[in-house]
Amino acid sequence: MQHNKVLILDFGSQYTQLIARRVRELNIYCEIHPFNKIPTDSESFKAVILSGSPNSVRGADVLHPDLSVIRGKKPLLAVCYGAQYLAHFSGGKVAESNTREYGRANLSFIKNDEDFFTDVKENSQVWMSHSDTIKQLPSGGVLLASTEDVENAAYKIEGEITYAIQFHPEVYHSTDGKQILENFLVKIANIEQDWTPNAFVEETVADLKEKLGNDKVVLGLSGGVDSSVAAMLLHKAIGENLYCIFVNNGLLRKNEFKDVLRQYEGMGLNVKGVDASARFLDALADKSDPEEKRKTIGRVFIEVFDDEAHLIQDVKWLAQGTIYPDVIESVSATGGPSATIKSHHNVGGLPDFMKLKIVEPLKSLFKDEVRRVGKSMGMDSELLGRHPFPGPGLAIRILGDLTHEKVRILQEVDAIFINNLRSSGLYDKVWQAGAILLPVNSVGVMGDERTYEKCVALRAVESTDGMTADWVNLPYEFLQKTSNEIINKVKGINRVVYDISSKPPATIEWE
Ligand code: XMP
Repeated sequence: MQHNKVLILDFGSQYTQLIARRVRELNIYCEIHPFNKIPTDSESFKAVILSGSPNSVRGADVLHPDLSVIRGKKPLLAVCYGAQYLAHFSGGKVAESNTREYGRANLSFIKNDEDFFTDVKENSQVWMSHSDTIKQLPSGGVLLASTEDVENAAYKIEGEITYAIQFHPEVYHSTDGKQILENFLVKIANIEQDWTPNAFVEETVADLKEKLGNDKVVLGLSGGVDSSVAAMLLHKAIGENLYCIFVNNGLLRKNEFKDVLRQYEGMGLNVKGVDASARFLDALADKSDPEEKRKTIGRVFIEVFDDEAHLIQDVKWLAQGTIYPDVIESVSATGGPSATIKSHHNVGGLPDFMKLKIVEPLKSLFKDEVRRVGKSMGMDSELLGRHPFPGPGLAIRILGDLTHEKVRILQEVDAIFINNLRSSGLYDKVWQAGAILLPVNSVGVMGDERTYEKCVALRAVESTDGMTADWVNLPYEFLQKTSNEIINKVKGINRVVYDISSKPPATIEWE
């Protein structure tokens, strides 16, 4: 695809992906590259953005790329560390700041740069997050704006199309941040806003047609947004040559296998539903350790999928719903690999023995773009708006060992919780919700009888990507109604609690 591309050089900031998402929201295509991997073919990108970083330009661990293919040759916007980097290595001065420069600040214009600040108001709120500060601008630097604590909050370099800002335009709290990005990319760098969902569908379908020809492709549907949108794109390109497999591992939500399978058929997909519940539950019978449960589910899934794929004659390709955040090469601030917190079984793919070529039609998209693409293909909004659901399903929401009875209980509880969220109009305000069956019994009283039954926890979180999350402040009336309904209707439960832990330090799932 030949789109005007913006290159985002990543210096390890927690906000780098946010820069890319803002740029994409402007319908401009961009890619994130590690700071030390600048493409040698400078014709392939139209402008460059330097990200922030947890490192300091003054430290021994300074990240120090050679920007000579970019400086003065391409429109350049340097953010936070990027702005300090340009100052420090081009005749300016960066020092530790005396005041804490985190959070809200307000811009005052020093020199009105009409293009850069079009539609940005004097005193506009910006978000700061840095501990070093630029004391002196680099040679050719022209001061554009200051805040109360940060004199050199925005500058440009005379004779170049180079702009630098100390604040983060990509975060929501920088009120005119998106406008500033648009001004730089559209007004100053003259980039066309041609990266739209419709254009993506048209181009991807054409590419897939060419790449796949008459080959057969197999794809595992999970009921989630990514695999469903990937399937729809492939279906448009190759129709019946796409063989979808939807496996019931017995750990899905109540009625999900039946309902979602029907929905897939209604979309015209060539889909086969495989009920392997017994195979999964048998394999899990003696497992109670969370990682062992995950690994078992991953292994059985591969076996089932492989059996099914072998039933299709001459299949050449395996399609996957991989999205952009899964493939971005990350820059580690510490230099080491980040710790594995949980082994997500669907990362890492399928084993070699399947010998299939891989096709990943969503590899360049963020999650919100996947939804927009699905919408532009007319896909059902309920399917596109579904909460994320983990591959190992309810197995990691039943703490400890699994039995059919526990799965049934949790499916009932979960269905009440999710249905109530939907009927109260809360479902779309929550990023992910579910119930967890705890391995404890507690005493209760029902009628005149003493009970000694199980306890469930309800969990509902707000998040953007699952990396951090906060619990949702669900109305008391909602919790009251849901708790009553669960205890009255689900045999085996006599107590309901609500999880009020954020991530970090807790995780979203309990296992
Ligand atoms: P945690 O519990 O790590 O979850 O805070 C973050 C997000 O990842 C999902 N999750 C998984 N997804 N396989 C998956 O496909 C897994 O093993 C797995 N574990 C957690 C979780 O539901 C949340 O959205």
